[in-house]
Amino acid sequence: MLSLRFPIPVDNFLTPVNPRNTLSQSSRTQTHPFRSLPLHERPKPHSHSSHRPRSTTTPDVGLEEEPQELNDGATPSGGSTEEEPFPEGLRRDLMPRHVAVIMDGNGRWAKQRGLPPGAGHEAGVQSLREMIELCGRWGVRVLTVFAFSYDNWIRPSVEVQFLMSLFERVIKSELDSFVGEGIRVSVIGDSSRLPESLQKLISETEEKTKDNSILQLIVAASYSGKYDVVQACKSIAHKVKDEVIQVDDIDESLIEQELETSCTQYPYPDLLIRTSGELRVSNFLLWQLAYTELFFAPALWPDFGKPEFIQALASFQQRQRRFGGRS
Ligand code: FPP
Repeated sequence: MLSLRFPIPVDNFLTPVNPRNTLSQSSRTQTHPFRSLPLHERPKPHSHSSHRPRSTTTPDVGLEEEPQELNDGATPSGGSTEEEPFPEGLRRDLMPRHVAVIMDGNGRWAKQRGLPPGAGHEAGVQSLREMIELCGRWGVRVLTVFAFSYDNWIRPSVEVQFLMSLFERVIKSELDSFVGEGIRVSVIGDSSRLPESLQKLISETEEKTKDNSILQLIVAASYSGKYDVVQACKSIAHKVKDEVIQVDDIDESLIEQELETSCTQYPYPDLLIRTSGELRVSNFLLWQLAYTELFFAPALWPDFGKPEFIQALASFQQRQRRFGGRS
């Protein structure tokens, strides 16, 4: 149940904005994101979710409030409230701007059914589709998903190849929806190891969706948090060597600008969700997670749906974020 005893310091609630990257287009015209995504019609492989929706007895404290700064210009929640009310127990003004997800448990989901890992990844795509839709509808501005770790390259080649072709298939089939529904797609990670056809598709998708502003979907593929820090250090070292900057110019903001998450206005996730009950961050967004609220869900990723997401968001909205200070 949401605790109302300790008012959350809204002013200090969300992580800083990356001033280098401002949303270029007003999204007020894009009032019905995801409406054309075929999500609602697609059967979701939720056969036995490993936990139940949280109680809905929580007082509804914020549904009549106008979206605050975090929803600036974004109308997905406003545009879709006609269709479905904002979830009871969640506050619109306290929604995280940036949600990051480690989509774990696809392999176990498949194994439980006597299926190969690919079947779990395939099922995981349905969860991702639903998550994208919900984020757009509820005013989340950035969703970063860990689709393939740099450390996953050591997996059996049949699984790696399956994943690469799955990424291509999903991007191709969703591109029109992304374009039409205001979703900007960005990909981070060492793309040089991805198949050339996938690299080309990623470039086209990033280009075609770059002006969209309802939701930014950041896909981390061949991604490693350590690698990201290393490439940022190299870039800064080159700038020092070329006398573009001095050593004393190096500060947190400069490093932030060199990290791959400089592709977004909100580089620091407010909430990280990891599914499947594992309690670690596995080389994901290491710098960016400094003050991120963590939520570990027992559900395997293909079983993670709307009730589980609401539970994660409700937990987030109870947190007091102090960023090292005092409340
Ligand atoms: C982890 O489960 C999941 C992955 C390595 C891949 C996730 C990818 C998708 C859901 C497809 C996303 C598609 C796009 C286009 C972004 P695991 O196999 O490590 O699970 P396990 O720990 O149970 O084995």
